[in-house]
Amino acid sequence: MVSIIVLAAGRGKRMHSKIPKMLHPLLGKPLLRHGVDTALSLHPHEVVIVTSPAISKTISQWSFQGRVSTVIQPYPLGTADAVRFGLSGLSSLDTTILILPGDVPLVRTETLKALIDYFDRSQSVLTILSARVRDPFGYGRVITTTEHEVVRIVEEKDATPEEQSIPLINSGVMVIRGDVLKDALRYVGSDNAQAEFYLTDLAALLRERNLRVTTLRCKDSEEILGVNDRVQLSNLEQRLLRVIITKWQHEGVTFILPESIYLDVSVTLSRDVVLEPGVILRGRTIIGEDSRIGKGSVVEDSEIGSGVVIKPYSVVEASVVRGNAVIGPFAHLRPGSDIGPAARVGNFVEIKKSKLEGGVKASHLTYLGDTTVGGGTNIGAGTITCNYDGREKHPTYIGREVFVGSNTALVAPITVGDRALIGAGSVITKEVPPDTLAVSRVKQRNIHRRLLKKRGK
Ligand code: UD1
Ligand code: CA
Repeated sequence: MVSIIVLAAGRGKRMHSKIPKMLHPLLGKPLLRHGVDTALSLHPHEVVIVTSPAISKTISQWSFQGRVSTVIQPYPLGTADAVRFGLSGLSSLDTTILILPGDVPLVRTETLKALIDYFDRSQSVLTILSARVRDPFGYGRVITTTEHEVVRIVEEKDATPEEQSIPLINSGVMVIRGDVLKDALRYVGSDNAQAEFYLTDLAALLRERNLRVTTLRCKDSEEILGVNDRVQLSNLEQRLLRVIITKWQHEGVTFILPESIYLDVSVTLSRDVVLEPGVILRGRTIIGEDSRIGKGSVVEDSEIGSGVVIKPYSVVEASVVRGNAVIGPFAHLRPGSDIGPAARVGNFVEIKKSKLEGGVKASHLTYLGDTTVGGGTNIGAGTITCNYDGREKHPTYIGREVFVGSNTALVAPITVGDRALIGAGSVITKEVPPDTLAVSRVKQRNIHRRLLKKRGK
């Protein structure tokens, strides 16, 4: 039986940010959630997150599947103090406890399983996940006698130059027996360079009592990299992005110049999707089979059907684009838009909170807001729905197979019936019944220049 304590109450000073470190996004998901999701993947007995007062409300509002609770550490007095609070939130100490720092987001489930497994097999009271790295600066160093036996851990700021040259670092992840942890924490002091209660002091404390303290080296040292500042955050983000892109490539997605493409962990792609350079996909975006997202486009929280083409430099936010529709170039779908199958939304068209049924064409220079457009309708270039009267928004209803001439202003609220025709340049303020031609513009007069002269012009 394993219980997990996730440490997330540190100040995150090195981020120099108003936003708490644990809430900074890593590929669109808060840093802390990466670790907590990995913790949950172990199907533990329970998970306790130790939070600062500043973020406890946000975290307790997250919906986790499984048993997750939070405990507030009032002051960030150090990792050992945080674990003390974590213990107070556990229902039983008669378990193996996995301690997971909230700022080590890339650690994999398999690695944690191997660590717990080694802890059990070696009959240790404490096993620390470590790694050999080229640049150990900033990390605690693990001092060992043999490959697995640990003597103590020394923090960077307390280490002698000789100790600083040790390349074996503490990942901050450890497995410990619950009863041993509770007892040993009472003896951790704060007489060190940072005047903090170091969890890492447990190694020496237990070793002095002839208890077995071991370490397991993580083969892939990149997995245990921590996030303390924004440089590390962006480095980790790039690594994780590469992993995710490779995963999608193996599932049949083409990335053209993959190093220029960004996607959140929450994005879902399908076979034979093609992503062109500079594409950004965020949030709960889903892209269906055979769809192509053009260069420099941004798609956020949207559902894109199969066979859709989004031409370059388009922005799609919280919208649905159905099968075989063609969007862009330079189109903007704002939240709440629903573009029907095989519809066409062309360049410099902005659509907000509107539904276009199948086959609708709005090919050039148009604004449709709070509008419903029936199937097969053609919206001429430069059509504008005047949906705002300065105080309120009003809806526009356009029927099926309608032809809206170029440069038409539709003053909402307004209804245009099925198969109606609207003459170019019209300002439509009254309902247009079905099967009707509506024209509303000043009649053209042609006057010969000679006649103009006679009139003294
Ligand atoms: C810690 C380890 C170091 C290890 C490194 C790995 C200690 C003393 N040092 O150093 O050996 O190499 O992690 O990344 O443990 N936290 C709290 N409450 C506190 C202080 C910290 O919850 O009072 C949390 C932080 O939010 C963070 C984690 O504990 O998630 C580690 O704290 P941090 O200050 O980042 O420790 P490091 O200096 O990185
Ligand atoms: Ca850290």
